[in-house]
Amino acid sequence: MFKPPVLLTRRIPSSALATLEASCDVDRNEGAPLSPDELKVRLRGKRGLVCLLTDAITAEVMDEGSELKVIANVAVGYNNIDVPAARARGIVVTNTPDVLTEATADLTWALIMDITRRVSEGDRLVRRGGWKGWALDFMLGAGLRGKQLGIIGYGRIGRAVAARAEAFGMTVAYADMAAPAGSDAMPIDRLLVASDIITIHCPLTPDTTHLINQAALARMKRSAYLINTSRGPVIDEAALAWALKNGIISGAALDVYEDEPKVHPDLLTLDNVVLAPHLGSATTETRTAMADLAVRNAVAVLSGQAPLTPVP
Ligand code: DGY
Repeated sequence: MFKPPVLLTRRIPSSALATLEASCDVDRNEGAPLSPDELKVRLRGKRGLVCLLTDAITAEVMDEGSELKVIANVAVGYNNIDVPAARARGIVVTNTPDVLTEATADLTWALIMDITRRVSEGDRLVRRGGWKGWALDFMLGAGLRGKQLGIIGYGRIGRAVAARAEAFGMTVAYADMAAPAGSDAMPIDRLLVASDIITIHCPLTPDTTHLINQAALARMKRSAYLINTSRGPVIDEAALAWALKNGIISGAALDVYEDEPKVHPDLLTLDNVVLAPHLGSATTETRTAMADLAVRNAVAVLSGQAPLTPVP
């Protein structure tokens, strides 16, 4: 039986690998991430590509994979892929929605709790021997009850974050560029002014790049916190560092960065920011489900069936 050749750019859980290998001839990269040039060489003659959000799949890269039928991204975000270029070449692009929604919403709340209750900051203090004992006014944080959670991007993850807000006694408001007329969505400027916590869940597009810039940060309350588990470039990191240093906002908790794995050097020196290493979907269950879905998408397309979750 002919097995279509597929490039797998990184290690995936063995159960997902077994599914892929059962119907495809898999060229596995087990080592360091492939450079653009290595990617091009390894793509030659491949019908399928299973890749991660760290692989930049440009038009130039696709041109080397002239027999490519499907690009299956192991991520819900697909800003690493030039989707119009893929469409123009008749290549199906798929992502992994739904399976990571709850894990990412949970991590968002972990970050909200961490920055408002100063958990990581306190951990650093204890480790460097700076804790001198309990005091009534020691390391006070901000309570959440009765405050407003402002959500930017009200898709699957934004809604899952909102669903958890009631348990913390928070009210929810949201802004969403894609919201239909007549929805409850607020203009983003109003959301920024009125919210106590702003959390970002929109995709990265030309319209959302640096959506949170110096002007947006200046609109926020001085007591407000900014959370980002979507994509780093939605925030202008230099502007955020300025805002945190100058008390323009109270704090921020980030899981994603403009140029991962690099972090703006000024952020590394500040205590009022929590820096997580892109862990939104990082549970064993979720990452396994993501790899499994990506592989099933690739296999479906290569066996002439419709993809399970094509990018919209
Ligand atoms: C995604 O799937 O886009 C997430 O960022 C992975 O954690």
